Amino acid sequence: MRILVTALALTSLLACGPNPADPILTVASPDGQLAITFLLDEGGRAAYRVERGDQVVLDTSFLGFDLKDQPPLGAGLQVTASNTGSFSETWRPVWGEDSEILNQYHSLLVELEETGAPGRKFEVEFRVYDDGFGFRYLFPEQEGLQEVVIMDENTEFALTGDHLCWWQPGDWDIYEHLYQTTRFSEIDALALRNQPIAQTYIPENAVNTPVTMKTDSGLYLAFHEAALYDYAGMTLKVDKENLKWVSELVGAADGSKVTTRTPFHTPWRTVQIAERAGDLIESHLIVNLNEPNKLENTAWIKPTKYIGIWWEMHLEKAAWDLASGKHGATTENAKRYIDFAAANGIPAFLVEGWNTGWEKWREGQREGIFDFVTPYADFDLAGVVEYGRERGVSLIGHHETAGAVSTYEQQMDTAFQLYQDLGIHAVKTGYVGTIIPSGHYHHGQYMVNHFQEVVEKAAQYQIMVNAHEPIKDTGIRRTWPNFMAREAMRGQEFNAFWPGGNPPEHTVLLAFTRMLAGPLDFTPGIFDLKFPKYRGANQVNTTLAKQLALYVVLYGPLQMAADLPENYEGNPAFQFIRDVPVDWHESHVLNGEVGDFVTIVRKGKGTDDWYLGSITDENARQLEVELDFLDDDRAYTATIYADAPDAHWNDNPTAYVITQEPVKKGEKLRLDLAAGGGVAIRFAPTN
Ligand code: NOJ
Ligand code: CA
Repeated sequence: MRILVTALALTSLLACGPNPADPILTVASPDGQLAITFLLDEGGRAAYRVERGDQVVLDTSFLGFDLKDQPPLGAGLQVTASNTGSFSETWRPVWGEDSEILNQYHSLLVELEETGAPGRKFEVEFRVYDDGFGFRYLFPEQEGLQEVVIMDENTEFALTGDHLCWWQPGDWDIYEHLYQTTRFSEIDALALRNQPIAQTYIPENAVNTPVTMKTDSGLYLAFHEAALYDYAGMTLKVDKENLKWVSELVGAADGSKVTTRTPFHTPWRTVQIAERAGDLIESHLIVNLNEPNKLENTAWIKPTKYIGIWWEMHLEKAAWDLASGKHGATTENAKRYIDFAAANGIPAFLVEGWNTGWEKWREGQREGIFDFVTPYADFDLAGVVEYGRERGVSLIGHHETAGAVSTYEQQMDTAFQLYQDLGIHAVKTGYVGTIIPSGHYHHGQYMVNHFQEVVEKAAQYQIMVNAHEPIKDTGIRRTWPNFMAREAMRGQEFNAFWPGGNPPEHTVLLAFTRMLAGPLDFTPGIFDLKFPKYRGANQVNTTLAKQLALYVVLYGPLQMAADLPENYEGNPAFQFIRDVPVDWHESHVLNGEVGDFVTIVRKGKGTDDWYLGSITDENARQLEVELDFLDDDRAYTATIYADAPDAHWNDNPTAYVITQEPVKKGEKLRLDLAAGGGVAIRFAPTN
């Protein structure tokens, strides 16, 4: 592809006043809609602009770094070379929302060098897709720039208006804040500083990514990053005066952000751009900007539904520790779960609180307390694994580190070896609490490297990972497909213990924000929504039908049926959870508006069945959907799990109706969603 020097690019150059002799480099998306212009201003400052059709999406946005013991990098530059390219491939993920993914982009690589001393060099690489773009910095090996300590990355995203924004604070330690809906100029992350969440550190008026925006002209933008390795996570600082996001990397206590050496490159800085909110969800930009699968043998990687000894601890029906007198992880209780799983076709079950150390955690200790190989006396680990194996139900292990990363790293090999010896292929990890060793944050370079070490080591032992309190997903599941799911959001558990729980709009926000990063372990499927026998002051703020719809809407390859077995027994709605797949052939978003409602349909991989999930916020709605996604020439029975006419998330949450209807492609279906409700449908062919 040749470099396009368009009239548009020329206009933008003149508008910001640089020397017309400076190079203008523009690259357009394969469909020609999106154009990025790289430019140097009169001071040789590196910048880019983004246009879509005749609309400016991002105005002149400068690039640069502050490096320790070095002058700032980003001005006094010249372009020494540039080249463009194009790429197209279709790849097949080991698991996911779609079985085939088109990865098609045009690229521009710009090589830069300081015109004066110290004459440092770096490159900026852009990849422009139809659904957005990514760019990254590459630092070649060079004299005078070997050991590098990045004190700040100053990447700008210059907005063209005071857009509507769905954001959560740029916490360096946790992503479990609620999403807020405000104009850009009204973002106040610091006001959310003092919430009693297990660990929280919000140093600036910044947001975590993905952050989603809508312009007044109706364009949707989502900012994030892809392929985060050996670098710090990026938050976006709010520059209200200049209407700009400016990157703010998560740092360490010594003030540094990233310690590295040349050659190195940064993660991709990404912007998804869409006319329809649902297109943000359908976009594969983040995974496409990651490297292909590095694992040769993936036969042991299996998406699965699971149940677990888990919710009963959050309800305080049971406890993690033995000394409590109500230990949940007993051999007997585990067998009860296995029997339930086996009877209902659920292939896996999680046990939390199986290993020693939990009473010390309850007392407030964290370092050196957890032993990841020694079960409590009332839990026969090998016996439980065997009992499950005989019934076709496999154990998901659990490693809660309490943030004591050094303790975990000492035991990781023996812990994974134990699981491998027992034939356990999945682990849920947890990092509640500030990081030990101190001076590090969950989202800084030290922890990015720790999470990567865990996933690579787990792969050696053929173990899938589901991380809680993790670093955010940046699409590395493409490269490391044993990194299945993560929390990195406010999950279902908050409904058990947080005053007020998650508001009805919460999951409708997650779908358009957090879910753009990758799969979630939200743990849906609570049927006893008010749990009066346990923590009766709390509740889940949805209807039961909405809990079912979440299995389709919130994508995760490890999908929990989170409620207690006794709450599922005898409830006809449980049939939907039995049926719904966790791995998909294709997915489409039929409709949606950020924070209001969304309808997603997915076809199960290796089946002819389609599933629909539709959810709404606190407002009841009627939605009409066209069944265009169904296969040609087939008749289907739609089994519809809907809110009853008088259902309501607070007043009558468990009222639902199951109906069956013959349907075919091209027909329309009306969905009736109660306030805080949803609808879940299975479409099974009858011919
Ligand atoms: C927090 C996790 O999010 C939750 O799922 C887990 O049960 C507890 N930590 C205990 O590890
Ligand atoms: Ca959590």
